[in-house]
Amino acid sequence: MPAEWAASALIDEARYFEMYRRSVEEPESFWTEEAKRLDWIKPFTKAKNTSFYEDDFGIRWFEDGTLNLSANCLDRHLATRGDDIAIIWEPDSPTEPNRKITYRDLHAEVCRFANLLKSKGIKRGERVTIYLPMVPEAAVAMLACARIGAIHSIVFAGFSPDALAGRITDCDSRLVVTTDEGLRGGRRVPLKANVDEALKQCSGVETVIVLKRTGADIPMEEGRDFDWASAVAEQSTDCPPEEMNAEDPLFILYTSGSTGKPKGVLHTTGGYAVWASLTHQYVFDYRPGQIYWCAADVGWVTGHSYVVYGPLANGATTVMFEGVPNYPDPSRFWQIVDKYEVEIFYGAPTALRALMREGDEWVHRTSRKSLRVLGSVGEPINPEAWEWYHKVIGEGRCPIVDTWWQTETGGAMITPLPGATPLKPGSASRPMFGVQPALVDNDGNVIEGAADGCLVITDSWPGQMRTVWGDHERFFQTYFSTFKGTYFTGDGCRRDEDGYYWITGRIDDVINVSGHRMGTAEIESALVAHPKVAEAAVVGMPHEIKGQGIYAFVTCNAEVDPDDALRKELVQWVRQEIGPIATPDVIQFAPGLPKTRSGKIMRRILRKIGENDMSNLGDTSTLADPSVVDNLIANRPQLA
Ligand code: WT7
Repeated sequence: MPAEWAASALIDEARYFEMYRRSVEEPESFWTEEAKRLDWIKPFTKAKNTSFYEDDFGIRWFEDGTLNLSANCLDRHLATRGDDIAIIWEPDSPTEPNRKITYRDLHAEVCRFANLLKSKGIKRGERVTIYLPMVPEAAVAMLACARIGAIHSIVFAGFSPDALAGRITDCDSRLVVTTDEGLRGGRRVPLKANVDEALKQCSGVETVIVLKRTGADIPMEEGRDFDWASAVAEQSTDCPPEEMNAEDPLFILYTSGSTGKPKGVLHTTGGYAVWASLTHQYVFDYRPGQIYWCAADVGWVTGHSYVVYGPLANGATTVMFEGVPNYPDPSRFWQIVDKYEVEIFYGAPTALRALMREGDEWVHRTSRKSLRVLGSVGEPINPEAWEWYHKVIGEGRCPIVDTWWQTETGGAMITPLPGATPLKPGSASRPMFGVQPALVDNDGNVIEGAADGCLVITDSWPGQMRTVWGDHERFFQTYFSTFKGTYFTGDGCRRDEDGYYWITGRIDDVINVSGHRMGTAEIESALVAHPKVAEAAVVGMPHEIKGQGIYAFVTCNAEVDPDDALRKELVQWVRQEIGPIATPDVIQFAPGLPKTRSGKIMRRILRKIGENDMSNLGDTSTLADPSVVDNLIANRPQLA
């Protein structure tokens, strides 16, 4: 850590330790103080009221306070920075004009859209599904929902019609927001057509609002589909924000778990807002006036907290990029950095690894001298990529904040703070304020000191999810029943002798592909839905760029003779069922899967075969038919 950094940082190391101590020893006063970063309509009298134990289970923060997050992101900035840029939008193609939207204009657009939602009958507490690419209107739609107390559910625009339909149905949305087409890397994505397809399965949707992006000629259904621009034109720019209770729902975001059906992670208003704002400020050492860019999609939680809510609550200028890192060429990210003089850049290791492979020449064509802080999120960053990020992108000048967190946690949980935390490449380092990590062994015993174990969090923090939409029992079972009285993260972790945390990856049946979380069970159920497939088991495999790739073992029905054509067909099938992010990297046809005598698939063995680690298969003697394993090994495709 360069000395000048420590001297100028918002929080230095001594202050970090002092604030951390207060946050866990005196949470009432710490959080009461930190919550002042927001404008409350009615102040709360108690900050924290939480328990992870079954008999009095409950998570409530600032529970008698009221506020509106849209007003906190917009209205309160108007007097002081109404003419500042809230969103810089950089389109897919560098030759298309960009957009700069001031806080004043964003406020007006949000009010118009909020009034439109109301005119379509959307009331407080109702769900609105947003299926939009990276366009400013995605932020407008989110903030409009927050303004009127509707709960948004964003579905990543890369998901298939089936996946979209499942999410619309699960949260019972009556209104969907989309575009004619999306545009990514020069390719058009037929979003409205996907919605039309999805809605064949969802009878409850009454209204679709369609933003024009490419101007493609798309069918509009009379009485159901409305053009965004003409619909908002007649709406007023005045829409008073609803007074929301701190614990009123803000949004649902679906994420994969170890069972087949994605979970609707529910976040509420007050705690999430405090957490998003606080972490955005401290993790990035954010100062007013800085240009900040988080390269995540709004379809993921990173986009919610660090493209929209955190930065806008803090009055920042947030860059929103529609495109991809390598279009039109692998300089694109760093050209955008130069174009807007970005000071804080936050991206995913998978993109860095892909760019690293293209060579340093693409980087050296750009200046990047505006950069001060670099962030990483979504998956472990391997030391090689870390060093490249640090040396080549940041020229040794910029601290790297490797932020560990989850959809469930709302914001960064374990992360360095610039200038306060000596960095170790590959380690997410130390806990954020109020976060109390612990390592437990398989029997649930807490392990102290330098050790390896399962990562749990022993007490609540404001940004924690509050429930699984429609299934509170599943919420408790998934996160609080494995190790009693703690939140179970699903991650394995090592703590070193300095108390630094090193996330080692998921220990449940979840894999992380390009920083995107996939449930292996979801891919399996997509595969077995194919008429020729009898059984499937999916595991992760190491992948140079994606972090993990998808390795599928497939058993076909008896009369089927599996060949390359079927392999291609199955890959297409999964893409269609879930979306391109679930594309299997390897499909190995298997006459049989390794099962115990009671019929349970032994995934441990399949994982090892996927990893090509045949020397560590462990005990196979309890298998019903141990020869199955020999067959799988003999027929494992040789991968590059
Ligand atoms: C899982 C959560 C964080 C928001 C985007 C992903 C993995 C995330 C890191 C990191 C190592 C990481 C974990 C976690 N993960 N960040 N810095 N180092 N692993 O959110 O889709 O809910 O996935 O991503 O395994 O459990 P998500």
